Amino acid sequence: MRLRPVTESDLDRLEEMFVDPDAIGVFNWGGFTDGTVWRKRFEENRLLSEDRSVLMVELDGTALGFVSWNKIRTGQFSHVFEFGISLWPAHRGKGHGSAAQLQLARYLFAHSTVHRIQAGTELDNIAEQRALEKAGFTREAVLREYSFRDGAWRDEVLYRMLRPELPMP
Ligand SMILES: CC(C)(COP(=O)(O)OP(=O)(O)OC[C@H]1O[C@@H](n2cnc3c(N)ncnc32)[C@H](O)[C@@H]1OP(=O)(O)O)[C@@H](O)C(=O)NCCC(=O)NCCS
Repeated sequence: MRLRPVTESDLDRLEEMFVDPDAIGVFNWGGFTDGTVWRKRFEENRLLSEDRSVLMVELDGTALGFVSWNKIRTGQFSHVFEFGISLWPAHRGKGHGSAAQLQLARYLFAHSTVHRIQAGTELDNIAEQRALEKAGFTREAVLREYSFRDGAWRDEVLYRMLRPELPMP
């Protein structure tokens, strides 16, 4: 498995995900949004910038989905990265989510000086919690009624990895 930059040929699939609740996954579906945002950001910076980026997850030449992350400032001289993942439905439940998030952790710690990376997921998203735990992330907190989705306020679980907690290869 490898992470690679988004190419023009990935854009249709990425756009489709945001008009298809099954494709993006129930926990990421917040109603229809403007899918052309992907294309605009691709034209601007190939979806790679200091503040927010997207990489495709690929296995044997097949795109399985994508990972993305944002920089969150935590002080005048500090920041963390918060990331997310979405695999296409056919590639879920095969261990790829866990492997992809560990790869992303290795990538972020290798190519930036960030000290802490984190991911939040809904309390009901057991697959993502298990995938994060298998990748070496630590469950840190439950954030009550943190996000609004599909008619209800949802509890989230926050996971973290500090640079020294990155599992050895
Ligand atoms: C969440 C996601 C990234 C997890 O990746 P994955 O490849 O499907 O998960 P993995 O195969 O690595 O397995 C994770 C674990 O969860 C378990 N699991 C998977 N689906 C489950 C479910 N619906 N309920 C309970 N456990 C589940 C698996 O059995 C596995 O545990 P195990 O190894 O102890 O058996 C992937 O399913 C996905 O993209 N989902 C849609 C988008 C999404 O929810 N993203 C995260 C939003 S914050």
